[in-house]
Amino acid sequence: MNIIITKNYDQMSSEAYNIVKELLIKKNNAVLGLATGSTPKGLYKNMIDDYKKGAVSYKNVCTYNLDEYVGLGKGDKQSYREFMRAYLFNHIDIDLNNTHLPSGKGDLQKACDDYNKKLEAEKIDIQILGIGANGHIAFNEPGTSFDSVTHIVNLTPKTIRDNARFFDKLSDVPTQAITMGIANIMKAKKIVLMASGENKANAVYNAIKGEITTSCPASILRTHSDVTYILDEQAASKLKLGESK
Ligand code: F6R
Repeated sequence: MNIIITKNYDQMSSEAYNIVKELLIKKNNAVLGLATGSTPKGLYKNMIDDYKKGAVSYKNVCTYNLDEYVGLGKGDKQSYREFMRAYLFNHIDIDLNNTHLPSGKGDLQKACDDYNKKLEAEKIDIQILGIGANGHIAFNEPGTSFDSVTHIVNLTPKTIRDNARFFDKLSDVPTQAITMGIANIMKAKKIVLMASGENKANAVYNAIKGEITTSCPASILRTHSDVTYILDEQAASKLKLGESK
C-alpha cells in the first residue's frame, strides 16, 4: 500500500495524473476506471491540459465509470454520463463508443447484468476512486458485501445530502443508483484512491487504520496488491505522520 500525502487538492490531482500518464505512455489502449464527484475534477483537468499540449492521446483508450443514478442518463445534465462529457470526454480525443457507464434507465437488472458482463470481459488497468465521508467507494454504502458485483443501491440519506450540491434542490437527488460492486473494483490491476478535505479525514483513517469491515467499504482496498492513496494534508490529518511516501 502506497500513501502519498500532498499539500493541497491541486497537488493531489497532479500526483494522480502522474500515475495515469505513466500508464498512457506505456499503453496507448489503456483501460481506465473513472469516478465522478468533486475529487477527480482536478485529475481530469490535468488530463485535458496535457492532452492539449499533445503529450498524450486517448484515441484507443477505453473507460468504465463506477456508477450512474437511476432515472438519469444521456442528455440529463446531472447524470454521471453528462458529468463525464463536461469534465473530460468532450475535451479529449476519446471515442465516446469506448466510454462505458451503467445505464440508469430502462430495465435496471438488465443494466446491471450487461455492465457486469462488460467488466468480466475487461481488465481495468487503473481504477480511480474517491471516498464518501462514510467510507463508501463508488455507491457501495456501509454494509455492502465485499463480494458484490454491479447492483442497484438505495442511497443513504447522508449520501443524498452530500450529493445535493450538484442539484437544484434536495428532492431532485435520485434515491437510487447503479454501482459497480466491490468485487468489480478489486479486480482492477491498480487502484488509486484520492481524498481531499477534512470531511474525509475520518473515512480515510478508518480505511487505512481501522478494521477491515463492511462498515467501512474502503477498508477492503488494503487487501489489494497495488493500491495507492493520494491524500491532501486535511484528508490525511487523522493519520500519524511519517507514513507518507
Ligand atoms: C463517484 C462515486 C463516489 C464518490 C464519493 C466522493 O463516482 O462513486 O463514491 O467518489 O462519493 O465524492 P466527492 O468526490 O464528490 O467527494
